[in-house]
Formats: sequence, structure tokens, C-alpha cells
Amino acid sequence: MDRESDILAAESELYLPPAEVVAQAYIKDYDEVYEKAVQDPAAFWAERAQTLDWYEPWETVLDKSNPPFYKWFVGAKTNIAHNSLDRHVKTWRKNKLALIWEGEPGDQRTFSYYRLWQETCKFANVLRSMGVKKGDRVTIYMGRVPELPIAMLACAKIGAVHSVVYGGFSEQALADRIEDAQSRVLITQDGAWLRGKTVALKKTADEAIHRSPVVEHVIVVRRTGQDVYMEPGRDFWYDELMTLPIASPNCQTEVMDAEDPLFILYTSGTTGKPKGLLHTHGGYQVYTSTTLQWVFDLKEEDRWWCAADPGWITGHSYIVYAPLILGATSFMYEGAPTHPYPNRWWKMIENYGITVLYTAPTAIRGLMRFGDAWPNRHDLSSLRLLGSVGEPINPEAWRWYHRAIGKEKCPIMDTWWQTETGGFMITPLPSVPLKPGSATRPFPGIEADVVDEEGEPVAANEDGYLIVKHPWPGMARTVYGDPDRYIDQYWRRFQEKGYYLTGDSARKDDDGYFWVIGRIDDVIKVSGYRLGTAEIESALVSHEAVAEAAAIGIPDELRGNVIWAYCILRSGYEGNERLIDQLKDHVRHETGPIAVPAKIEFVNSLPKTRSGKIMRRVLKAQALGQDVGDISTLEA
Ligand code: WT7
Repeated sequence: MDRESDILAAESELYLPPAEVVAQAYIKDYDEVYEKAVQDPAAFWAERAQTLDWYEPWETVLDKSNPPFYKWFVGAKTNIAHNSLDRHVKTWRKNKLALIWEGEPGDQRTFSYYRLWQETCKFANVLRSMGVKKGDRVTIYMGRVPELPIAMLACAKIGAVHSVVYGGFSEQALADRIEDAQSRVLITQDGAWLRGKTVALKKTADEAIHRSPVVEHVIVVRRTGQDVYMEPGRDFWYDELMTLPIASPNCQTEVMDAEDPLFILYTSGTTGKPKGLLHTHGGYQVYTSTTLQWVFDLKEEDRWWCAADPGWITGHSYIVYAPLILGATSFMYEGAPTHPYPNRWWKMIENYGITVLYTAPTAIRGLMRFGDAWPNRHDLSSLRLLGSVGEPINPEAWRWYHRAIGKEKCPIMDTWWQTETGGFMITPLPSVPLKPGSATRPFPGIEADVVDEEGEPVAANEDGYLIVKHPWPGMARTVYGDPDRYIDQYWRRFQEKGYYLTGDSARKDDDGYFWVIGRIDDVIKVSGYRLGTAEIESALVSHEAVAEAAAIGIPDELRGNVIWAYCILRSGYEGNERLIDQLKDHVRHETGPIAVPAKIEFVNSLPKTRSGKIMRRVLKAQALGQDVGDISTLEA
């Protein structure tokens, strides 16, 4: 069945929640809670904020005086590291496991709340001794090891702003992010394990620093033991620093304003370089902890596994901060899902008794390929809920996940959200009936809709812009260093109405369920990773052979989308297979493996508007053999 007809079939498919799931759910009646929250969102969020510690209470819950620069819990003093760690070690949770970790080679480490708190305090003191102060930006470029959350929490504790750069990015991507954030300190690893091989993180970091020389100190976590270059006076081993007297476990948590910055996270947008979304201490802690608690129904005895990378917003919110705030036990795995065999994940679910698994459609499809025999070798009966995020999940993959992994007893929480939103926005709760491929309805306190060009709601079953009507505490506050870009990108389009533009298209069915279709801007989702056409194109044109380039996303069964690129060569270069390989290598090296085009074609011209903008929509229609549509604005 093709994807379109599969989605049509899925609309009339309804999965009712099992009675045991509803019986223990925090929220048993979605409609009632939703209605109440919508009447007075500020009061709703204030009530949720009461579940956390604040050094001083707020004066105003929501300050709307300078839209779109909304402020939450104005006047309150807090620190997310206090709510994540400090407060737990004064209770019985001191002895509870905060983190269970397994490395790709099979090694294991566990951290009680006490141990995680202590490591964080020690590392926070190390950072302070290097002169890192409140408001300073620290870049973190690491794999999935426990020192990554420790580094993030240590920054938060002393009021520094972390900027985590995903370990799959290469030197130019890292250099751009270091430069934009002006980070004087970089935390990295010698290397990371992936598919039985090592990824040379320190080497890439050295090359990035060469391009962005603002970095004064590099802290290197020893993981693979591979040979690395250590520059005297600049580079220090993490384990050596942690044994020095400065790494004392006594560390005062910095008192922060609710609106003080917590982190910058770079993501792709419509134009130019990736933008750094800025999130803050106060609203973010309320939003992420509430959404995790209600959507995945986390209880003390759970073992929660968010299989994302901490380098993405999913990991920031739902590996690091929200689970710790809730006092939960998280599991984290370093490597590839199929290493050494395609049962690695299922084996770990059985070994550790994981109760909730949250992953991405691309991972589900990737594992589905290997068939049912691999999961069937393992006892997966500990699972009670499943989750999906990153791109629309096709109904076929949804049904497999539900049947082969969840054994038809685990509801699937398909959570729609973005780096910008901080946490889940449109998502089921465990008590909500499900349709495969629909993220169902907005979380309580969130008002979303599908509108036309004028911002008017479209009829049921019609496509339109997915928008959000009212500010929420987890929203990004600005684009770091570029507030105009924040306005232009998200608020200009429906300025009069004050709607937040998500960049996605969607439709609502007759039951008011949302079906997210995909990006309507120049963002491509490849295996759930978000890439801007501009990033791929600028990597291509930074190669000496390429004069001009255009990148588009083409639907792909496994990866959601793949990249196709069109290049105009400089004179004197010949477009052959060898050059294609060189260009792919170049993109891998500059931006990272996820940005490498599946196909590169050499052309003599690109379709452009009269003002010179590349019409990617025309390229895409041509590539798919579709009608190219209205090209009247095309350059003659
Ligand atoms: C874009 C945001 C939020 C964490 C990971 C992605 C797409 C995300 C879903 C979903 C359909 C989804 C959207 C969105 N997306 N989740 N459940 N169903 N689409 O964060 O990298 O900022 O990407 O991912 O297109 O705009 P991100």
C-alpha cells in the first residue's frame, strides 16, 4: 500500500487505551483537563510550577507586554540544577538510580542521584576554576556518555549557558557554533564508539578550534583511549582535573532569575546559518517536567529510555532535565541499535527491564527491516508505553511497533514538537484513543490550529499552516544574538493574530485529530535530523569545483527523506563519478554524515525567480515527475 492510502486507512482505525493503562494514568480525562487549562493557561501553568522548588516566588506568571518576547514566572529565583539534583539528595532519592548507562562495547555504569549530584558539583568547580562565570557560553561536543549530562548540569549549576553540538557534526558545523556562541571553553572526548569503530571527536574539535580560535581551554573525556593531540596549556584530561583539589564536591548552586538563559541549541532554519535557540531556567523546567510526567506517566518504579542523543532537544529535555526533575531512573545507550546484531535494543530492554521506550520513526523502520525474529527472541513484557518523535510516523511502522514491540498492549505516544518548543506540543496522553500516524491533540495549556494564508482556520481535512495561538512556558525566548531573526522566522507571518508559525503543514480530521504532513520551508528532515537546504548548499559550494548548488528533500521509505543535490560546476571541472564521490566526502567532512546527498547531479542552470532565488519546488516536482506548477515568476 502506498503512503497516501495507508494514511487514509489509518484515519478510521482507532486504538482504545487498555484499562490497566488508564487506571494508573495521571490524567484520566483529557477533555476535562484540557478545557480547564484553556480557560486560563497562566493559572494552569502556575499550578504546575508549584510542584517545583523556587528560591523566591514569581510576581507575574506571564508577561505579555513586549510580544513576541514573552516572559514566564517573572521575578522568580531558581536553578534547574537544583530541581534536577540538589533537592533529591536531601530525600530518600539520594540512593535511587538516576542513570543506568551501557557503552557500545558492553561496559556498564550506574549513577545514584547522590553520585550524579557529586560528579556535577565537582565538575562545576572545575569549570569555575577555569574562569567560567554566570552567563558564559560553554560548547559541549561529545558522544552519548554519562559525562555529557554531567557537563550540562555542571554548566547549569554555575549559571553558564551550555551549547551542545551533536557529535555527528563535523568541523565547519562545530566551528560555526563555537564562533556564534563565542565559547571560551570546549568539552569533548578523545573519541566515541559507533558500530564497533571510533569517531575521532578530539581531532574534529582541534580542526574546528583552528577555524574558530576563541576557545582557550579544552576538557577531554577519555573514552576510547585512542591517540589524540593535547596542546599544553590549552587541553586537559577530564579525569585528571577531577582528581585535583579544585574539584571539590562542595559547590554552591548559582541563584538564577527564571528568565536567565540555560542553554543555546542550534537548529536549521529557512535561510543562512543554523540559529541558536535560547531556552531559560524557569519556564523550561516547568514545561518539560509536566509534559514528561503526563504523557509518559512516569512513576518512581519506571525505567525510562529516551533513545535520542543528548545533543538534540529531545535529549536535553527528556534524557537530561525532565527525568531528573521528576526523580526518575533513565537508561542511556552509547552506540548503534544494530551493533553487533539487530537485537541489541531488544536485548537491553530485557536486561534492564525498561518500561517506557521513546524513539524515532527512522529507528523503528530501520529495525523493522530485520523482521520479527529479532525482537521475538527477547522478553519485552516489562514495556508498558512506547513513544515516537522526529517526523510523521507512517501507519505501517506504527502498527509494527505496536504489534512486534508493544505486543498490542502498549499505547504509542506520537509526540509532535520542535527544538523551539522545548517540549511536547501535540501528543496523546496514555488515556487518549489513538490513530496510527496522528499525534492526536494538543497538550493541556496549548492551543494549536491549522490555518490558511490569512490565519483563518481551514475546514476539517484541509491542509494548512500549523500554528500555536498562545505562549507556553517551554518556548524558546529568542535566537541567540539575533532577535530580529526570531521575529522574522516565527512571528512575522501571523503578526496581527500573534500566532507562532511552526514551519509545518498539517490537517485536522473530523475528530479534531492533528495529522502533521511535514515542513513547508527549506528544511529537510533526514532520518529525523533537521537540515537546512542552505547548510548543504554552502558545504557544496565551499568545494573548489562547485559554483552553485541546490539541495532538495525526496521522500524515502527508510529515512523519511533523502537529499538530492544539483551542482553547477566552475569552468575547467568535469562532472564525473569521481567528483561525485569527492563532493560527498567533502560534505561529510564539512557538515557531517547526515548532510551527505544520496544523489548529486551536474546541471548547467538552476530554476530561479527573477529576484534570483532558487526554486527548489520546481526541482522537486521535476525530480518526482510531477507537474511543475506555476512557474510564471521564473527567470526568463
Ligand atoms: C520538526 C522539528 C522535537 C524533537 C525532535 C525534532 C518534525 C517532530 C514530529 C511528529 C510529525 C514531527 C516537524 C517539526 N516532527 N516530531 N511526532 N510528527 N513531525 O526537533 O529537529 O527541531 O524538528 O520535526 O517537522 O517541525 P527538530
